[in-house]
Amino acid sequence: MVGAVSDQPLRARTTSVEQTRALACALADLAVAGDLILLVGEMGTGKTAFAQGFGAGLGVTEQITSPTFTIVHEYTGRLSLHHLDAYRLEHLQEVADLGVAEMLDEPAVMLVEWGDAILPALPADYLEVRLEFAPDEDERRLALTSVGSKWFARWRALAEIIEQYQPDASC
Ligand SMILES: Nc1ncnc2c1ncn2[C@@H]1O[C@H](COP(=O)(O)OP(=O)(O)OP(=O)(O)O)[C@@H](O)[C@H]1O
Ligand SMILES: [Mg+2]
Repeated sequence: MVGAVSDQPLRARTTSVEQTRALACALADLAVAGDLILLVGEMGTGKTAFAQGFGAGLGVTEQITSPTFTIVHEYTGRLSLHHLDAYRLEHLQEVADLGVAEMLDEPAVMLVEWGDAILPALPADYLEVRLEFAPDEDERRLALTSVGSKWFARWRALAEIIEQYQPDASC
């Protein structure tokens, strides 16, 4: 199953920042050491909000803030959480300099905002969470895709969580 990509993304819709956090918080229950999650989406779509909910789900009590200027933040929870913002990384070498490969070897979970920008420097086994704006100001569409086997193995459990955040049939 290595290299497998889920055929169809799991789709969800949230109508508030709290709901995006709640969805991410629920997903964190499924997290295991070594997990990588790429948060992909335009500025303001909710990547950091997702990270905040996910961190809460891991039991992080510290406030999770955007790591834009420091590039990477580390938090302690049930598992450690590395929160990376790749927006300002201009060269893949910077990923190596930050020690991303070493961080992935730790018993930790890594969330990468703008993860698609540094894809060649990351292992090809991750969950991609794509966030998009929707017509309503507080609405977001999320699409979850598993690349590789790690998240694919949890697909059913993931789908059960995502089921609660379905777009209206009329949309
Ligand atoms: N359904 C929603 N989900 C997430 N955020 C929402 C939602 N509705 C409104 N928002 C608002 O959108 C903003 C999302 O900001 P956030 O910092 O999480 O985005 P980001 O994708 O991390 O941006 P950046 O690329 O600048 O890091 C917040 O102000 C939040 O309150
Ligand atoms: Mg952000």
